[in-house]
Amino acid sequence: MAGNRTFTMIKPDAVKAGHIGNILQKINEGGFRIVAMKYTRLTPEAAGQFYAVHKERPFYQELVDFMSSGPIVAAILEKDNAVEDFRKLIGATNPAEAEPGTIRALYATSIGENAVHGADSDENAAIEGDFHFAKTERF
Ligand code: CDP
Ligand code: MG
Repeated sequence: MAGNRTFTMIKPDAVKAGHIGNILQKINEGGFRIVAMKYTRLTPEAAGQFYAVHKERPFYQELVDFMSSGPIVAAILEKDNAVEDFRKLIGATNPAEAEPGTIRALYATSIGENAVHGADSDENAAIEGDFHFAKTERF
C-alpha cells in the first residue's frame, strides 16, 4: 500500500536565506518521497485563502504578508505516517521550543518566520495539496 501523504512549503524566509537545498536534504533523509514539487510565489489573495482557518487570529495579516513576500517551494510528500512524522521532523511552531536538529530549530528565525509549513492532519494535507497541484503534476 502507498504511504500516507503530507503537504509542505519551504517559506519565503528559508528560500531567501538559501536553505532550500539543506531542507530538501532533511526531507530526503527523513524518508519522505517527493510526489509533487514546485517553486512558486503566492499572491496575497492565495496566501489569505490558504491560511483562511487563521483569519480571526491576531497574526493573520502578518502571516499573509510574509507568505506572499517571496517565492516558496511547495511539495506533497509520501511516507508511512507522513503527517505526524513530518511534524516531528519540522519541530514546534516556535523555533525556540523546537527540538534540536529539527528543521525549524536549524533554520527558523521566529515564530512567524519559521522556515517551513507542515499539514496538521490527513484531511488538511489533501486539501492543501489540491490547492497547489493538479493530478497531472503528481508522480
Ligand atoms: O505552522 P504550524 O502548524 O506549526 O502553526 P499554526 O498555529 O498552524 O500557525 C500557522 C503559521 O502562522 C505559523 O507557522 C507561523 O508562521 C504563523 N504564526 C505566527 O506568526 N504567530 C503565532 N503566534 C502563531 C503562528
Ligand atoms: Mg498549522
